[in-house]
Amino acid sequence: TGYFTYDPGFMSTAATKSAVTFIDGDQGVLLYRGYPIEQLAKHSNFLEVAYLLINGELPGAGEFEKFEHDVTHHTMMRESLKNFFQGFHYDAHPMAMCMAAVGSLAAFYHDSLDINDPAQRKLAAIRLIAKMPTIAAAAYRYSIGWPIRYPRNNLEYCSRFLHMMFEVPSEPLQMNPVAAKALDLLFILHADHEQNASTSTVRLVGSTGANPYACVAAGIAALWGPAHGGANEAVLKMLAEIGDAKNVGKAVERAKDKNSGFRLMGFGHRVYKNFDPRATIIREMCHKVLGELGVKDPLLDVAMELEQAALKDPYFVERKLYPNVDFYSGIIYKALGIPTEMFTVMFAIARTAGWVAHWLEQHETPDAKIGRPRQIYTGAPTRDYVPADKR
Ligand code: CMC
Repeated sequence: TGYFTYDPGFMSTAATKSAVTFIDGDQGVLLYRGYPIEQLAKHSNFLEVAYLLINGELPGAGEFEKFEHDVTHHTMMRESLKNFFQGFHYDAHPMAMCMAAVGSLAAFYHDSLDINDPAQRKLAAIRLIAKMPTIAAAAYRYSIGWPIRYPRNNLEYCSRFLHMMFEVPSEPLQMNPVAAKALDLLFILHADHEQNASTSTVRLVGSTGANPYACVAAGIAALWGPAHGGANEAVLKMLAEIGDAKNVGKAVERAKDKNSGFRLMGFGHRVYKNFDPRATIIREMCHKVLGELGVKDPLLDVAMELEQAALKDPYFVERKLYPNVDFYSGIIYKALGIPTEMFTVMFAIARTAGWVAHWLEQHETPDAKIGRPRQIYTGAPTRDYVPADKR
């Protein structure tokens, strides 16, 4: 019983109004604040996109430099945060460490943070964008037993992250501009995607007035699952398992068998039922980046064969299942030397821009309500308690 619309998975419920990102799933259109993703991918950079998502407009003269300066000067994490990492077993998943470390920022910035003050909200957003790469790299370095590196603020956002990931004292890291550019592009593509599961989670937690760092930690938790951000890790594991282009046919058959419990990871999308515009950009980029970095990865051959096989198979055609953004992103991350367990963390760094943009928008909405879905109750009707000896 109940008087509510039953909409499992929120297939047709708009829980909010938003001016951040527009998606037309049938036409394969993705706009950040009105700008097509293809144009941003070609001409912009991740920090400019983050500015756009947060502020609604591209930065004018001097505004980008100020934003970059602000982000750069909040990249350090509290020294005591290192102790959090040391509490983890060495092989803890970096997503678990990141989720915990970002959540713990709520303790560092709580009493001091007035979320009713727009300037303080903006500062929290900047801190999150600034600190995510530091925390992510710390999680990775801890997981391989290496000392944590401090952010080098004379580098730009993506180079700084790569430096924190890979630098060893005896061999000063030569920054590869191709790698930094590729990373920047991936971050642009992953920066926002309107009301996906993790962003909706950030908004739901945000709707209670919770601390923004706690909201983003909840977003990281939602992102981790293989149906969402965890797909990029799952794609690479799947490609490695398939191992060779000649095994692709068997994998496709298995994915079509509902009893197998196996899906083609990196295929299908809740909203895109034609193609994922991010996948188109990333596919092209994947070939280019691997070429430029001189990396020959047999998994790319497996991926291409799998894509072709699925695109002509009636099962995938009828269900409008196309490669999504994560089908190729893992191959690029792998070529950049980023380990598989870090793929979803990479997604989290980029999506932080979107999460904070939505959190800010939510707090600028005067009639915002606490998120409180209803249900269709399917349990027992009213009944009387039975004492233990009478059951
Ligand atoms: N392989 C095989 N069959 C699939 C797949 C797949 N990857 N995706 C969907 N299907 C089938 C599904 O079994 C169902 O078949 P039927 O109509 O016969 O029951 C039909 O296609 C519709 O699927 P659905 O699960 O109802 O669709 P959804 O909108 O609820 O799920 C999805 C979307 C992305 C969760 C799903 O396509 C999936 O699990 N894909 C693999 C995981 C993945 O790549 N996720 C990343 C998404 S993009 C990045 C992000 O959002 O983070």
